[in-house]
Amino acid sequence: MIKKQWVLAVAVLAVAFVTVAFVQARGDDATAPGTEVAYGPEGQPVAFPHNVHAGAEAGQYQIECMYCHFSAERSPSAGIPPVSSCMGCHAYVAGQGPDGGPSPEILKVRGFWDRGEPIPWNRIYKVADHVQFPHMRHISAGVDCTACHGQVQEMGVIQQVQQPLTMGWCLTCHLEMGASRDCTVCHY
Ligand code: HEC
Ligand code: HEC
Ligand code: HEC
Ligand code: HEC
Ligand code: HEC
Repeated sequence: MIKKQWVLAVAVLAVAFVTVAFVQARGDDATAPGTEVAYGPEGQPVAFPHNVHAGAEAGQYQIECMYCHFSAERSPSAGIPPVSSCMGCHAYVAGQGPDGGPSPEILKVRGFWDRGEPIPWNRIYKVADHVQFPHMRHISAGVDCTACHGQVQEMGVIQQVQQPLTMGWCLTCHLEMGASRDCTVCHY
């Protein structure tokens, strides 16, 4: 039990650290155009920690990215899992809040489930409307999530590592990997 609490304390500290680092980073580029994105505990309706779920450190659960983002290999969109997939675990896993009771964040997840409401997540990565980005083409070509989204499994609060999502960024990799640079593959 002591060991578990210690591990949790470290996880909480890691989340706090990432949050501070992120708030600072956001302060720095707040004036840059096209970077206005809402995320972080105050930006998301539930403070979802990727590291706790997908990380490989002690006390983290190494859930595969595709367990939750399962449409990434078969459709353009990677998708955000519905509350029902959270409840597969969180009907039983209550976590622990500061007062020793269930985690307030997990109680929020259960609240959405009880009310039959989807969790209104704020979108983070988003290409311009005149561009199409097909996840499945990248996954089937063997491009790893980390190439575009960074080390998500280490993030307590997800951070957009590549921003803004420029045409130059897409084309540089397409050139390196021999993928198409025909205008019409990306533009309708
Ligand atoms: C237990 C389910 C779960 C697992 C496992 C998971 N994610 Fe997520 N992911 C979510 C949820 C919920 C969100 C929305 C909340 C947020 O943005 O933090 C999300 C958001 C994201 C986003 C941002 C989406 C946007 O709006 O642009 C990316 C990128 C992402 N995940 C990548 C990954 C990668 C890479 C992995 C594996 C290392 C992974 N996820 C593992 C549930 C999961
Ligand atoms: C495969 C099981 C599993 C799934 C699926 C899962 N979680 Fe978790 N989640 C866990 C475990 C285990 C913990 C750690 C609980 C603890 O701290 O004791 C956790 C922790 C959390 C926490 C942190 C609680 C805190 O206060 O520290 C949040 C928030 C959370 N999950 C939300 C979600 C959401 C939202 C989804 C669906 C998108 C989801 N989880 C899907 C197993 C899961
Ligand atoms: C080649 C770069 C690249 C790779 C590889 C990649 N993504 Fe993405 N991802 C993006 C871009 C660009 C967007 C924004 C797409 C849009 O706006 O249509 C995005 C958006 C997302 C989103 C937001 C919701 C959605 O449905 O679009 C999630 C979640 C996500 N990615 C998860 C993943 C996961 C998990 C993997 C690995 C299985 C992955 N991505 C691999 C570039 C990538
Ligand atoms: C890290 C490398 C990488 C990045 C970054 C990247 N791509 Fe790709 N892309 C690839 C690879 C590899 C393929 C697969 C080529 C194949 O299937 O032969 C591909 C395929 C595609 C295809 C299908 C092409 C076809 O022939 O039909 C589209 C569309 C596409 N990418 C759009 C984008 C857009 C839009 C972005 C930027 C938002 C982007 N990609 C960023 C590596 C990348
Ligand atoms: C691999 C994907 C990809 C290919 C191929 C591509 N584009 Fe783009 N293009 C993008 C993305 C992503 C953006 C959005 C950039 C942004 O919002 O900053 C964009 C934006 C643009 C814009 C709008 C510029 C702006 O300031 O918003 C024009 C015009 C454009 N592309 C023309 C072209 C032409 C012409 C070609 C062929 C020579 C081409 N694109 C090929 C991904 C691509």
